[in-house]
Formats: sequence, C-alpha cells, structure tokens
Amino acid sequence: MKTASMILDQDYAIGTIDERIYGSFIEHLGRAVYGGIYEPGHPTADRNGFRRDVMEMVRRLGVPVIRYPGGNFVSGFNWEDSVGPRESRPKRLDLAWFTTETNEVGLHEFADWAKQAGSEIMYAVNLGTRGADEARNIVEYANHPSGSYLSDLRIQNGRKEPFGIKLWCLGNEMDGPWQICHKTAYEYGRLANEAAKLMKWVDPSIQLVACGSSSREMSTYGAWEYEMLEECYDEIDYVSLHRYYGNQADDTPAFLARSMDLDCFIREVASICDAVGARKRSKKKIGLSFDEWNVWYHSNEQDKEIIKADRWNRALPLLEDVYNFEDALLVGSMLITFLRNADRVKVACLAQLVNVIAPIMTRNGGGVWAQTIYWPLMQASRYGRGTALRPVIKSPVYDCKDFDAVPLLDATATLADDGSVTIFAVNRDLKEDISLSADLRAFGNLRVAEHSVLHHYDVKAVNTEEAPDTVSPKEGKTGEMDGGKLEIRIPALSWNVIRLEKA
Ligand code: AHR
Repeated sequence: MKTASMILDQDYAIGTIDERIYGSFIEHLGRAVYGGIYEPGHPTADRNGFRRDVMEMVRRLGVPVIRYPGGNFVSGFNWEDSVGPRESRPKRLDLAWFTTETNEVGLHEFADWAKQAGSEIMYAVNLGTRGADEARNIVEYANHPSGSYLSDLRIQNGRKEPFGIKLWCLGNEMDGPWQICHKTAYEYGRLANEAAKLMKWVDPSIQLVACGSSSREMSTYGAWEYEMLEECYDEIDYVSLHRYYGNQADDTPAFLARSMDLDCFIREVASICDAVGARKRSKKKIGLSFDEWNVWYHSNEQDKEIIKADRWNRALPLLEDVYNFEDALLVGSMLITFLRNADRVKVACLAQLVNVIAPIMTRNGGGVWAQTIYWPLMQASRYGRGTALRPVIKSPVYDCKDFDAVPLLDATATLADDGSVTIFAVNRDLKEDISLSADLRAFGNLRVAEHSVLHHYDVKAVNTEEAPDTVSPKEGKTGEMDGGKLEIRIPALSWNVIRLEKA
C-alpha cells in the first residue's frame, strides 16, 4: 500500500468559500426544460406542469445558483418572447441547436421553479443578435420595483415583487465562431462595457460576468481575455471560464489528471485579469466564474445524427451523456480544484442540471435517477462550506500524457463555522490503496463522524433507471484519530468525503 501525508491548520486558509461554486445550469436545450424539469401530464407533475420527482433530486443536490436560459441558445433568444400570456408566446427556430422553442416555460415559470429548488438565478442576456438596449430592458423588467413601463408590465404579467436577479452573464461564448453573432474581442469588449453600464444604471446592486474564452484550446485564448478586459474591466465583476473534458483516448490516468489543466487555466486567467488591472492601476480584482464545467464527450457523435434526422423538432434528446464512474472521479477532482482556488473562483455551474450533460436524468413519462457525477457535487455542496484550507500534502506521483508528477492523492479540506473539518480526496491510483496520515492537532479534539467512499471496480460502470445505485457512495472504513492524528485508508480509484466533528 502507498502512503501519503497531510497537515491542516486553521491558520493556513485559502479563503471563504463562495457557495455559488456549487451552482448548475439549465439551458433551453434538448430535454433540460421540456421533458426534464417540466413535463405536464407526468404522474408527479405539479399544477404548473413541473415534475416533483425532479425537484426533489435538485433540492437534494443543493444548487445555490442556476444559470439560465443559455448557453448558445441565448445568443438568438428574445426575452420578451418568454413573458406574458403563454398562449400568445411565439414559437421560434432556435439556430443554436436547430430545434423549435415554444416558450411554454419562460422567466416567470422558471423563477418560481428555481425558488422552490432553493436556487438563485444567474441570468444570461443575449449579446449575440441583440445588444445593450435589450440587456438593460430585461434588468428593468426583472428587478425594478414598479412605476416604469417594463416593471409595470411584469406586474401586469402576475409578478408584483421584482425577481431580484443579482448575477448576470453578458452573453455566452462570444469568442466562438459557432456562436450566433460571434464577435472579435474588441467588438465584444466594447458591447459588454456599454451593456454593463446601462444594466448597472438600472440596478446598481447587480454583478456581471463577462465572457472569457470558451476553452483553453481556443486560438484566441489569452489575447481574448486581455483585449476584451481592456474595454470593460471597470464595469464587470467576473470573467467566465468554460471547461469540458473527455476521455476519448480511453486513457484513465491521463483523464484523471485533467484537473491539473483546470488549475493552470485558473492561474492563467487570473494572471491576465491582474495584468489588465495592473496596466489600469486598478485596485479592483476580477473574480472567476466557471459558468460551464463538466465532462462532456459521450454523446457528441449521436447528437450529430439526431439533429440531422430531426431538425426543428422540439425537445430532442441532445447532449445526453451517460456518465461512468471515472467521470465522477474527475468531477470530484474538479471540485477539489475549485476549493483550492476559492480565493479567486467565486461561481461555478456544473453544466448542466437535468438530462443535458447532467447529474440528473429522466425518462419521459418515467423515472428520475442520479448519474455518477451527482454524488461528488452533492457531497461537496453539502459539506464543503465555510473556509477553504490550504493543506500541505505529500503524495506519490505519476507521469501521464499531458503532465508529469501528478499526485496520486488529490485532496483538500474545508473548515465549517461549527469547527468541523471535511477532507475531500480522490485516489487516482488504478490499483493501490493509499494510507493517509493527516495531522489535525491544530483543531483540538476531533472524531471521525463519517467516511463516505464512491468506488466501483469498473471505471466504465454507469447508473441507469433500473439500477440507479450502481455507483453511489458507501460507508468506508472510518479510520482512527489518535492524539490529533488521523490514519485512514483511501481505496484505489475512489472519491472520499471524510467528516471530522468536534469530539
Ligand atoms: O452546455 C452546452 C453548451 O456548451 C452551451 O450551450 C455552450 O455555451 C457550450 O458550448
């Protein structure tokens, strides 16, 4: 068995964890809304047509913020289509996903649903086909109390109190040539700046996310961030990062090391933000918003066929990745990476929430179940609150295709307000357990309250409607605390949550 060590101390802290790093995303795409959260006629549907069984799974997951309504979809979307009497809402061609959007679910319906789910909305405005005028109008409609045309229209549409949406995305992936009305960094930076100014004049309390690069592989990556921030630095609060990984090469060690790439991405974008800040002699720090992140590759080929065969149909089964066990391990490592960068990463939305590259799957007319990736997000959201600690870790390492010296033990820890400590750990070793020795003497008397382990002997194991618990957390061997030192076994290929409470 291999060995690793960890030292924790409350004085070694990274910063306060922003709970919005446990966010998610619902786009008008595929069966996320229609057939996902919303299915009138389903045996569990409430009087508004939303599935209660899905709601229960979302609530259990614990998602403090949900990005909405897109995604690529938003760059061709007219927000006005989604409010007012449902029977007069237009059906539109969605040029992002080649389907038809009925607008049956719009802002009011989604806001009611999100409230029930215990989530705030992160609303994306269309800076593709539209501009600053529409952006300031939706802020007025959503957030202005009353006495103006648009706020009174909201009241007339049945909502007296403002929606009070605090977090707004200035468009989506505007660096991507696939985007409806893709822009250069300069064009986008200017537009984002002007839209941001107007939106904040309407409601100065809102926070704004400008589009960073769609991935670290974009040819414009780096230059895009620098050039667009030159134009809008003073008006915005966050820069977005989007990151999806896949194991197309079927190389598990390399796949599990992709969180090292995530870490580089974070440090690079933070450096570029700071470089622009320095050039502007600004004391302002721009935060990072991972408003899309996940594993995404399983469904790529089938999606091309679906769109070819069924163009313009409604609620096509698009981006329905079936996640396996190794995907859950990488998702766990990505969450650990966000925690290790909690001083800079303030928002992160697992893309997406239901059916579309999602932790929650449904069958139309049928059941709902948790995919493998549901578990690390649920546990991190539940227990990873408070302060992110800066552990000192010694771990054996391995080399792989993209990185040398990848730690076999990928771990971090958090300190909650009640003094309890939680260690999150992934053992990337395919075969061997790791015996972890953790020094927690600085925290006084702690006891192991729980050691939860997510493991399966087959990295390709999946959950299905018939066998929903194939990959699900089990109670591990609790380990031993002795004189403030924890000795615990971290099984080969596993995601672990070790909760230590005051004795
Ligand atoms: O999340 C799916 C899609 O991925 C989003 O619509 C887009 O922003 C990204 O390319």
